[in-house]
Amino acid sequence: MVRKAVIPVAGLGTRVLPASKAIPKEMLPVVDKPAIQLVVEEAIQAGIKEIVLVTRSGKEAIENHFDKHYEIEAELARKGKTTILESVQDILPSDVTLMAIRQPEAKGLGHAVLCAAAAVGNEPFAVLLPDVLVDCDDSETHDLSQMITNFNANNATQVMVEHVADEDISKYGIADCSEGPAAGSSASVNGFIEKPTAEEAPSNLAVVGRYVFPARIMELLKDTPPGAGDEVQLTDAMDTLLKEQQMNVYRMSGQTFDCGNKAGYVEAVLNYALKHPETKEHTRALIKKLSV
Ligand code: G1P
Repeated sequence: MVRKAVIPVAGLGTRVLPASKAIPKEMLPVVDKPAIQLVVEEAIQAGIKEIVLVTRSGKEAIENHFDKHYEIEAELARKGKTTILESVQDILPSDVTLMAIRQPEAKGLGHAVLCAAAAVGNEPFAVLLPDVLVDCDDSETHDLSQMITNFNANNATQVMVEHVADEDISKYGIADCSEGPAAGSSASVNGFIEKPTAEEAPSNLAVVGRYVFPARIMELLKDTPPGAGDEVQLTDAMDTLLKEQQMNVYRMSGQTFDCGNKAGYVEAVLNYALKHPETKEHTRALIKKLSV
């Protein structure tokens, strides 16, 4: 059973500077929650019980966010502000553990995942890249839950993909699969090409940043030499794994927001503001007013 998730949060956030100069980009607010909280909630909704953050110095605010804050809680309790108090206390359910491991050097996504090896042990696990928010509220399926169900059924690695426009292909890992699956289902994949040009790309199915791996990927990562950008690439270890066993792409049915860039972040804020009971009416009216 998949009970653990690795969330790499050691990135420098250069694409959202200067906002991320003194606070981690994962702490940028999406209405009233930092982006990382939405990613952790997604993992918890999928049944994850142990969350491993792979972090670095200067990003302690992320760990603090999931810890107890006695002063705030005592103050809110004294003033009888129970709704806000609950929103602070309920960030992490009592049956979920969150731990943090340092990635001492920026040696790539594959290296970041490998830093969590001791915490993951000999178990399958999910990886969630925190730049991308996945909103499944309006879809019938919770995508990460479905990927875990598929993994539990056939032990095949699941890689979440979505269809992207030609001009966006070069920003993502692209799946090589003869027939793309329908939304909410999986299909086998021949391989991945990291950030190809639109001409080189074997499909328009981009890796979104949600994976479910068997423990074997950790052993392969240990032997994966630095690749593109002189960094240990997760995609390279996935290619090796694919030579040993079947791998699936899972086509998502929810909506994604790439908060790793400014336009995607603004889109995410608007999306969540249109759903939040305290902001939805105002946001709808504002959009109407600005679009005339
Ligand atoms: C990483 C992965 C890439 C994936 C992307 C999703 O790239 O290497 O395959 O498509 O995340 O956000 P990065 O954005 O870290 O360059």
